[in-house]
Amino acid sequence: MANLVITIDGPAASGKSTAARLLAKELKAIFLDTGAMYRAVTLAAMQAEADMNDEDELFDTLDATEFKFVAEEDRMIVYIDGKDVTERIREPEITANSKYIASAPKLRDRLVEMQRQFAADEEKIVTEGRDQGTVAFANADIKFFLVADVAERARRRQAELQDKGVEENLEQIQDAIEQRDKSDQARRVGPLKPADDAIVVDTTDLSIEEVVEKLLSCVEENV
Ligand code: C5P
Repeated sequence: MANLVITIDGPAASGKSTAARLLAKELKAIFLDTGAMYRAVTLAAMQAEADMNDEDELFDTLDATEFKFVAEEDRMIVYIDGKDVTERIREPEITANSKYIASAPKLRDRLVEMQRQFAADEEKIVTEGRDQGTVAFANADIKFFLVADVAERARRRQAELQDKGVEENLEQIQDAIEQRDKSDQARRVGPLKPADDAIVVDTTDLSIEEVVEKLLSCVEENV
């Protein structure tokens, strides 16, 4: 296990990905994007035309596929059977279908195992997702849980899409985020919730720089 493990959980578009990446950079730690793992398995299942409601079939696809997650300085490159799918896994159909993987207990168990394996090889790690502080790294050194108003999260997601040249209606974005929140919170295994010992940070009125500053000062105080 790594010497320093920091977990950042929270709902979609709460700012955790960017915060985790920047915090990892500041601490010279490795950044693990566990959402990318769920997305990669979703893409592999779609490519194999697996029945998304059949957990055993999904698990067989996971087993038959070679996944590689490579930590670069401040991002993670994702390969499926040797092919770089880092950009492809960000597409909306992958986002929409990831709920099937996220709610399948056998797949979650395997992914948690892969996350621990990934951490075992690193000295310091900042890992982000939904269940990092509650399940994957229950003994983490510091746990954060980021929250933000849903309207603000929708605005952030819209700005992100606009940066990529994609125009999407704000109301539709907010609806999709609300649906993802519901499905993330309602699942039986690894639901989205703060760990009892997590530091909850509301990012609604904070810039990303302010968020990172806040996290960094908590790390300095607590480690
Ligand atoms: O964070 P991101 O949007 O990339 O995550 C993609 C999907 O994977 C989420 O909708 C969530 O349901 C799932 N996920 C999860 N547990 C994690 C990380 C992501 O269930 N640790």
